[in-house]
Amino acid sequence: MTPTDTTTGTSTDTSTGAAASTGSDGPADPGTGTRAGTGGDASAGPGPSNGTHPSPGTAPTVGSGGESVGGVEPAGDGAARTAPALRFTGVSKRFRDGTVALVDTDLTVHPGEFVSIVGPSGCGKSTLLRLASGLDAVTDGTMDVASRNVGYVFQDATLLPWRTVRANVGLLAELEHLSRAERARRVAETISLVGLDGFERHLPHELSGGMRMRASLARSLVLDPSIFLFDEPFGALDEMTRERLNDELLRMFVLRRFAALFITHSVAEAVFLSTRVVVMSGRPGRVKADVPVPFGYPRAPELRYSPEFAALCGQVSAHLRSE
Ligand SMILES: Nc1ncnc2c1ncn2[C@@H]1O[C@H](COP(=O)(O)OP(=O)(O)OP(=O)(O)O)[C@@H](O)[C@H]1O
Ligand SMILES: [Mg+2]
Repeated sequence: MTPTDTTTGTSTDTSTGAAASTGSDGPADPGTGTRAGTGGDASAGPGPSNGTHPSPGTAPTVGSGGESVGGVEPAGDGAARTAPALRFTGVSKRFRDGTVALVDTDLTVHPGEFVSIVGPSGCGKSTLLRLASGLDAVTDGTMDVASRNVGYVFQDATLLPWRTVRANVGLLAELEHLSRAERARRVAETISLVGLDGFERHLPHELSGGMRMRASLARSLVLDPSIFLFDEPFGALDEMTRERLNDELLRMFVLRRFAALFITHSVAEAVFLSTRVVVMSGRPGRVKADVPVPFGYPRAPELRYSPEFAALCGQVSAHLRSE
């Protein structure tokens, strides 16, 4: 690791610094920063689950791929071009058992961009997210994150079953030692934002799957992350619930304007949410197509039924099929 301190261009960051991780095969230590960051769920492993955590990073000075998208303000385009929120350069990942999950992967996400990744099962998408989160380290190449304030949402809601919605949503704020008053304010605001008003005292088992995922999103949103990593968060939900949560996620994206890296197996979901859709090859994965999405925000649910939307989905699917 070669730490490179720098400043970030994002206003929500509380601190920055640390590393463009290079050539280390051991796991990065996510527990050594100023951000506490665990989602508090045993099943989610030793790192952050559905939360924010310290993520080593630097703000590189070169930006690429920050294409202007129709109707979208690329979140201070000039600044975005000089300070990517997240950047992988020539990244490879080989695990101890010899499995090569990623080779020569280049990917940049700018502040205010919503980038989705689609690719065959096992091509290294989750690995990429774990690298971005600081849970794991690259074998070759560099990974730069501009902020320590990274939110991470997994496919499972990973709520603590004995805590109410309010207590679950407040968990990360507690770990961050925010004052009781500030915590209460943020928790109430975020519960409202995700549409769980009236369910504050419910336990996770008293919620539907979609509501649990809302609570999980809220838990990360409480710390107002500037970078949000999503690993198929809505994959287990029925189509209607998923579409509704997509609409709500976009509402939050428009409000909070975090940089997002979102993994999904649904081409339609990727296109509907994103400013760009990145298509990965089969394992070992690398980026084989980068498709800009020309629709502005906010996006109406009806967009899904437009010919332009269908054409773009067709284009992404064609990239997925081609080897
Ligand atoms: N800790 C590990 N040790 C060894 N191999 C691993 C480890 N983690 C992942 N892999 C391997 O790396 C490859 C990529 O895994 P990854 O979980 O990133 O795929 P994915 O694209 O997220 O797949 P899916 O779409 O099914 O979730 C797989 O072959 C997997 O078996
Ligand atoms: Mg995965």
